[in-house]
Amino acid sequence: MITVREYHERDAAAVGRLIARTYSAFNLGFATAEERATLLGPFRFAGSADPAHRLAIAAALEAPIVLVAERGAAVVGVLRGGRLDRKGRTVLQSLFVDAGHHRRGIGRRLVTEFERRCPAGAVIVAASTLYAVPFYLALGYRRSTGVRTMRSFAGEGLPYQPVKKAPA
Ligand SMILES: CC(C)(COP(=O)(O)OP(=O)(O)OC[C@H]1O[C@@H](n2cnc3c(N)ncnc32)[C@H](O)[C@@H]1OP(=O)(O)O)[C@@H](O)C(=O)NCCC(=O)NCCS
Repeated sequence: MITVREYHERDAAAVGRLIARTYSAFNLGFATAEERATLLGPFRFAGSADPAHRLAIAAALEAPIVLVAERGAAVVGVLRGGRLDRKGRTVLQSLFVDAGHHRRGIGRRLVTEFERRCPAGAVIVAASTLYAVPFYLALGYRRSTGVRTMRSFAGEGLPYQPVKKAPA
């Protein structure tokens, strides 16, 4: 059974490992090994027990709303979001579901719970990875511009598709 709940700081190490492997496998295939390390930022140290690395990962996970999906004791999904952009729109900041659990409705559950927690009438925006575009379209998001590139930590050139969902 999958449970969606709020993230706690004690989840940080497991969430960090989930992000590191999912981001590397699905989103950073275009990058060299060196570029990938830069694009991963603190998550490149997800396997490290060094307290400084752990702290950097916990800090990178902070967001107004952080939800995890859990199967038994294993974290299999994470969504961060809730900051406002300069136009006052609510940002869905990141979303990852473990590769072994794709296409089981976990991403949809995380986004639905996130949307439920957003203020009534919120316009929600996300910088969708190219991999996730069909997912966001299936959930009622629409492309708001063409594909662009952005920074990811100190790395540059990450392609993304801006998407948006306005209240019905
Ligand atoms: C994008 C992601 C979060 C989707 O999570 P998920 O739990 O597999 O998604 P769901 O099972 O809830 O999918 C809901 C619907 O979205 C669509 N969808 C999801 N993944 C899809 C894919 N790879 N190709 C086409 N459609 C897809 C389908 O319509 C799906 O419904 P269906 O399975 O009944 O056909 C997951 O694939 C992931 O973590 N990808 C790698 C990291 C990433 O790119 N994250 C996005 C950051 S912005």
